[in-house]
Amino acid sequence: MYSDRVKEHFINPCNVGELSDADGIGEVVNPECGDMMTIYLKVADECIKDIKFKTFGCAAAIAVGSVVTEMVKGKALEHAKKITQEDVIETLGGLPENKIHCSWLGVNALRRAINDYLDR
Ligand code: FES
Repeated sequence: MYSDRVKEHFINPCNVGELSDADGIGEVVNPECGDMMTIYLKVADECIKDIKFKTFGCAAAIAVGSVVTEMVKGKALEHAKKITQEDVIETLGGLPENKIHCSWLGVNALRRAINDYLDR
């Protein structure tokens, strides 16, 4: 059973799409289920000025992408790098046991996008 917060973010997700001029892009494939997520960042003054995500994933993955991007939008990269799966799950009001792995997608796509920016 999904929490009300998960349902809200699944039905009306925030920050869906791509940034064609992204400063960092992170794409991951979940090893447990094969679902995918890509996160796009625009960075200025070491802060995330804009962020978008796309996913080929389940309802929980869509909610995770929505909430992860909301959690870090406008925040410092240093803060964003420290977001954990537990933070995401807590912000979503919990995830069903068989959907815990869906939080991995958002956290790791974000970290990969930040690392892509730092590597450029
Ligand atoms: Fe794989 Fe949700 S079932 S990300």
